[in-house]
Amino acid sequence: MAKKNQATKKVAKTVKKQKPVEIKEELLLQPPRGMRDILPKDQPYWQQVRRVSEKAAADFGYRRIDTPIVEFTNLFTRGIGTGTDIIEKEMYSFTTKGGEKVSLRPEFTAGIARSYIQNGMQVESKPVKMFYIGPCYRYDRPQEGRFREFFQFGCEAFGEQDAIVDAQMIQMAWRIVFQLGIKNVTVHVNSIGCPGCRKQYRNLLVSYFESKRQKLCIDCKKRLEINPLRILDCKEDKCAQVAQNAPQSVDHLCEDCRSHFKDLLEYLDELEIPFEIDPNLVRGLDYYTKTVFELFAGSIVEGAKRNALGGGGRYDGLVKLLGGEDTPAVGFAIGMDRVVNEMKKMGLKTYHPPKARVFLAQLGSFAKKKSLRMFESLERNGIIVAESFGRGSLKSQLKIADRLKVDLTLILGQKEAIDGTVIVKEMASGMQEIVPSVKLIDEVKKRLKK
Ligand code: HAM
Repeated sequence: MAKKNQATKKVAKTVKKQKPVEIKEELLLQPPRGMRDILPKDQPYWQQVRRVSEKAAADFGYRRIDTPIVEFTNLFTRGIGTGTDIIEKEMYSFTTKGGEKVSLRPEFTAGIARSYIQNGMQVESKPVKMFYIGPCYRYDRPQEGRFREFFQFGCEAFGEQDAIVDAQMIQMAWRIVFQLGIKNVTVHVNSIGCPGCRKQYRNLLVSYFESKRQKLCIDCKKRLEINPLRILDCKEDKCAQVAQNAPQSVDHLCEDCRSHFKDLLEYLDELEIPFEIDPNLVRGLDYYTKTVFELFAGSIVEGAKRNALGGGGRYDGLVKLLGGEDTPAVGFAIGMDRVVNEMKKMGLKTYHPPKARVFLAQLGSFAKKKSLRMFESLERNGIIVAESFGRGSLKSQLKIADRLKVDLTLILGQKEAIDGTVIVKEMASGMQEIVPSVKLIDEVKKRLKK
């Protein structure tokens, strides 16, 4: 035993002697490419988007859901589809120390469908309506309106197949951007049918594009094998030209899908939402069935590549595909970064929190201590107070109060702190009055009401 201890000590000594290797990497004072800070000066835009979106969600009966930013990779591969750009090129995937294969979410829908199944939400009264807000990650080439970390606000409704819910989704997405002040928005809609009619349409499309194979870009030649519908929205000029004369999905819908689409268009007419049928709109995720839509700002410039402000559609097969009951579903997501960009470009209104109407100034160490509590009690009574407790001189504090254009300045000097009083100064008239601290809240409220 003694021998063993000696041996352990020896090892410990040897380990101790080893010096840690110092790796000096350059510290880059910037976030990774395609990611950025949202600085305080920009927050009023974001706050406005959040407020308007959350209000719309609440008005339409949606409840908030939060799901993890990280999910098992195969949730996305199965849900979004292996032939899509997101899965093929854009996932942030890694293996954890425990050996789990996980990815940062590139979108919310798959995670929410997973949660719907896992938490047995199918027993709730239908449609089960949920909204979300948060970051997503796609390893795409950063460019105007395209980030690697971006934020979505979105809604999902599970358990209803009627096209009226599709129409309500479009109504909600459209209303949000409209209420934010982006009024020149057009909704592009299409129906890509159900797996039944799409199979036949896909065959037609493949034989059409096969006959034009030479004119397609390298990516589309690959898409021809794995995802021919995506050729329809390829941004390459030569592919777009070929796509113009391709068979259109709306001409090849089964009876059920056709009447679903007809109903949707009638609802949109009823809502007077400006929309156009876009036969080349197919969307970049494989789970869609029937309705697909996207929202664009501004007038259409022929051939110009535009970023959608938001998009969505119906995904009747996703819940079953992930292992749940057969559940029709529909949803949309708005790209908050793009909406904020548009708002900035258009100089639109942002959210400003209510301004402080009272400034609390203090002088002397005893008064300074007391002012901490006084600040709290004013705040607790709903009075927004500004202060600059770090400043020693009364003059500099009063200057700040002037600059903030408050209605009242409360001055707590050494004498007032000892006496249990406060000087209340009305800034407009310059009138001052000494008020007992116990009556301060009522006095301030009374004067602010005037
Ligand atoms: P998505 O079209 O991939 O759909 O994304 C929705 C919106 O997110 C886009 O219209 C765009 O505004 C924004 N977005 C997407 N990628 C980026 C990016 N790299 N940078 C900035 N913004 C971006 C979905 O994600 C579906 N989950 C929507 C949905 C919900 N479908 C049914 N339910």
